Amino acid sequence: MTARYDAIILGAGAAGMMCAAVAGQRGRRILLVDHAAEPGAKIVISGGGRCNFTNTGTAPDRFLSANPHFAKSALGRYTPADFIELVERHGIAWHEKTLGQLFCDGSARQIVAMLMGECELGGVERAFGQPAMVEHDGTGFRVAIGGRTVTAPAFVVATGGPSIPKIGATDVSYRLAKQFGLKLVEPRPALVPLTLGPDEALFRELAGVSATVVAQAGKAAFREAALFTHRGLSGPAILQASSYWRHGETVAIDFTPDRDADWLVDLKRAQPRASLRRALGLPDRLADALAGRLQIADRLADIPDKALRAASTRLGHWPFRPDGSEGYAKAEVTVGGISTAELSSRTMEARRVPGLYAIGEAVDVTGWLGGYNFQWAWASGSATGNAL
Ligand code: FDA
Repeated sequence: MTARYDAIILGAGAAGMMCAAVAGQRGRRILLVDHAAEPGAKIVISGGGRCNFTNTGTAPDRFLSANPHFAKSALGRYTPADFIELVERHGIAWHEKTLGQLFCDGSARQIVAMLMGECELGGVERAFGQPAMVEHDGTGFRVAIGGRTVTAPAFVVATGGPSIPKIGATDVSYRLAKQFGLKLVEPRPALVPLTLGPDEALFRELAGVSATVVAQAGKAAFREAALFTHRGLSGPAILQASSYWRHGETVAIDFTPDRDADWLVDLKRAQPRASLRRALGLPDRLADALAGRLQIADRLADIPDKALRAASTRLGHWPFRPDGSEGYAKAEVTVGGISTAELSSRTMEARRVPGLYAIGEAVDVTGWLGGYNFQWAWASGSATGNAL
């Protein structure tokens, strides 16, 4: 006998569990499927093991997408306050770190347990630890899982993006999109460290040094910590900028975000014996490297005003030309994915394939660092869960 469900959800990650719980609690018969034996692997490792589960500053402009309006509907209908209410209902203690980022006090596993608990309340059935193949037979979806076949009029792609393959991430979302004729926005690793080539080797020698900067890629600029690594640049400011960066472009770093264009000339007048490396207020190794590259000798008094103005311009806009990124092995998310043009922003249903839905990171909606990606997973999962 072929078991029949109201919907089959492929992917028991953040979006899939939320979707299953919402639909199950609305009385739908749901099967939640994952090739991994345990659900929520990315939740478990997120936020350094404490899961940065949302951001109180959630707003559509914190998301990248070919259609910047697409996420508004789902984000507006399931907000950070809704998720906080759920977390508190489950007695999970949490705190705000910085910039509206909310983390568990304890373990990220509490979030997985909470979502699976909600699935149980909704009577969601599960099939974990086995590969699955889906096909559309004209009237509905047939999914082969291990040795059995199940059917449903609705099928939800909740298989995320390909970052961190070693914990089970795959590109199956994109393969399914192709199988069903849905367009993709070219995916690329995002929230990822950038690598520097041999020309910028001097900076690679600064591995371990970090400073608060403004990092700019394209039109986006982020004031947070940047970290020099053996391979290039990392830290929150760089991870944020990486989502906007494209091969061949520069990332400009402002090492002196609170200084105006004349600050070095003014300092020279006020303290002629001051040195650039001390005045920078940056970690010694970084200040030495910058002063060395600018060829500014120790005393400001010895430097012409013109050279000081040129130095302050460069310090405020230091262009790095990354030769790549650390790729999907290190990326926290993927920019791009299933084109939003294919989907209803209200339900996430594919316009051309009734009954097919895509949610979470599989879709071309990518949040900034700081809890936004989970908020998109909860919001898009809830949107579909309420539509099934
Ligand atoms: P998700 O990846 O959660 O789930 C996809 C599911 O599909 C997985 O269970 C996987 O096993 C399954 N799957 C994949 N291929 C399959 C196949 N072929 N067959 C069957 N099942 C398959 N975000 C945030 O907001 N705050 C944070 O603190 C962090 N921290 C963080 C740290 C690290 C190291 C990473 C890699 C990522 C984050 N993120 C984050 C991003 C966040 O984890 C991510 O955006 C969401 O988990 C996306 O949710 P989804 O449900 O779309 O995919």
